[in-house]
Amino acid sequence: MQHLIDTNDFTEEQIKTIMEDAKTFKKKMPKKLLADKLLITLFFESSTRTRSSFEVAAKRLGASVIHLDPSKSSTNKGESLEDTFENLAAMEPDGVIIRHEFNNTPKKLANKELTPIINAGAGNYAHPTQALLDYFTMLEHFKTDTLKNRTIAIVGDIVSSRVASSGIRLFTRMGMNVVLVAPKPFMPDNDLPKYESLDDVIDSVDIVMSLRAQLERHKAPIFEDYDEYAKEYCITKERMRNRDILLLHPGPVMRNIDISDEMLKDRRCQVLAQVRNGVFVRMAILKELLLDS
Ligand code: NCD
Repeated sequence: MQHLIDTNDFTEEQIKTIMEDAKTFKKKMPKKLLADKLLITLFFESSTRTRSSFEVAAKRLGASVIHLDPSKSSTNKGESLEDTFENLAAMEPDGVIIRHEFNNTPKKLANKELTPIINAGAGNYAHPTQALLDYFTMLEHFKTDTLKNRTIAIVGDIVSSRVASSGIRLFTRMGMNVVLVAPKPFMPDNDLPKYESLDDVIDSVDIVMSLRAQLERHKAPIFEDYDEYAKEYCITKERMRNRDILLLHPGPVMRNIDISDEMLKDRRCQVLAQVRNGVFVRMAILKELLLDS
């Protein structure tokens, strides 16, 4: 039984297959490869893109999807998360797609070995399908099959971001240079090159990944005034000038704090391409997890 807790659960060979399958699916929708499969989505945190993207991906491959809304489930009546999960697993789905505020929840449930667990976002620790779709979007953009020695700057609330955590692990494994740009309270503690200002490094980057300030994860407000923060960290046309840099963001975008209205319309900004690619990449991931292993 294979789980997806983070991208290091996949071998490089599997990642290559996922990238190739996603590319093939994007050219032509495949047959209903998962027609006899049933997945349950269990989202304890809000989601727009990830949940619908998984559902679209599963349905494009012919799988059925059941959604359990935890706010209406018995976790509300005092049932533990483990018990809820064991009850769902007793119905013998082919996998459970879970999002939770705690870093270790997907791993804890996977250790029960009852059904494949697919992590759709856990705390600030991991969001593997986002990292893989970001990787795919970069490969597609640069029309290449390797991103070795390309440099990505991750900008914003890095310390709170599971997108950044998973991205950093995947991109460095794939030979990319990752640099971090954030004010001190948003900067994680690791060995990567760090900058407080994007202007100091922008001339040596191929990709900028902007991140949302995750206010809901801050125990106390970090900035009084996000307009002040935006002056330094919002990705604007003035900051990008005419540099040929790919601009990504996992969404939801806080307009004019993360990225300016004008840059969101710029051809270098590929936020909607990421969303579009997310479906094909998740189709390839579901195929890999539910069919190929
Ligand atoms: C992110 C998430 O929830 O991890 N969004 C996403 O899944 N694309 C990032 C965020 O909420 O800022």
